[in-house]
Amino acid sequence: MAKPISFARGAPSLDIIDVAGLQGAAQRAFENDPAGMTAYGTSVGYPPLREWIAERHQVEPAQVLVTNGSMQADAFLFEALVSDGDSVIVERPTYDRTLLSLRNRGADVRMVKLEPDGIDVEAVERLLASGARPKLAHVIPNFQNPAGYTLSAEKRAALLELARQHEFTIFEDDPYVELRFEGAPLPTMLSMDGETVVYASSFSKTVCPGIRVGYLVGEAELIAQIAKLATSTYISPSMVSQAIVNEFCRSGAIDDSIETVKAALRERAQTLCEALARELPDAQFVPPEGGYFLWVELPEGTDVAALFAAAAQRDVHFVKGSDFMIEGGDSSLRLAYSGVTPEEIEEGMGRLAEAYEQLSSGAFSADVA
Ligand SMILES: Cc1ncc(COP(=O)(O)O)c(C=O)c1O
Repeated sequence: MAKPISFARGAPSLDIIDVAGLQGAAQRAFENDPAGMTAYGTSVGYPPLREWIAERHQVEPAQVLVTNGSMQADAFLFEALVSDGDSVIVERPTYDRTLLSLRNRGADVRMVKLEPDGIDVEAVERLLASGARPKLAHVIPNFQNPAGYTLSAEKRAALLELARQHEFTIFEDDPYVELRFEGAPLPTMLSMDGETVVYASSFSKTVCPGIRVGYLVGEAELIAQIAKLATSTYISPSMVSQAIVNEFCRSGAIDDSIETVKAALRERAQTLCEALARELPDAQFVPPEGGYFLWVELPEGTDVAALFAAAAQRDVHFVKGSDFMIEGGDSSLRLAYSGVTPEEIEEGMGRLAEAYEQLSSGAFSADVA
């Protein structure tokens, strides 16, 4: 049996997690603040970490709420701002969990095409001109999940202008911002307009996902409103996790961790792009400048659901593009390179190419899968 190779999960491999650094941070946290980290604490998060995040974003601590992962931050924000029937703009494709969360809330989800330089702002403009009155636009600006694309500086400014004119909030969902391995960083929309933007980020991609620490930055009034939701949901988030992250950040270990992760991602992305170009010349893709993901378009009419089954027979796994949309995306897929070594990438692309050939030659039928 071949060893399973997964391009499915947006999670880091163990070798790029600073386990020893986390152990040290935990030791120091228990020594330095046993009372603070073992108490319930407060629903806005562990105060020293809240302050560290506020400083990093040049905002007041009252504008920060630290949560159990940023998915929790997303859920709180949707609960505060989105009611049944409210219109919400999202990218097409977009992160499947936020898409599901919005649909479960009964939001009228309007998907707008994502281009290699970010959401199609002209299409947003047309949607607004046609009478749409969105409450919120959910945008993943850097190394987007699932496409790996980044919103350009021009489009950031144009989107903010539309949001101000039409009075909707931009939700800047930004867990990959620190993971740029090519090109120059761009300013966050939060730093461009702190009134129009609510911002979320996470330590899942820079420290580790199991620690479950993410956060929200917004106007103090909104954060206070969400803090009440947080209290009634879980009293407070995990003080133990947040105290460990606080020590990890304040010792500078986070900067080393980010460098380790970026170096590995750069190598993995390059290996993946080269292997894809060689093994699957039909695949169209934009080499990512950071983050975890690469989006592949196969020729129109390719049955990626069948490819998924044929690949699974060879123990290689990915996520179908259709999972990130309400409809369509049938000939696309997402490859996550964060959890695989360069050797596994080479091997995995070889297996994927075999599955694709079997499909193209008509030798594969889903019945045999
Ligand atoms: C765009 C986006 N938002 C939010 C999350 C959730 O991250 P967390 O682990 O902080 O809950 C992810 C995780 O993959 C993501 O890609």
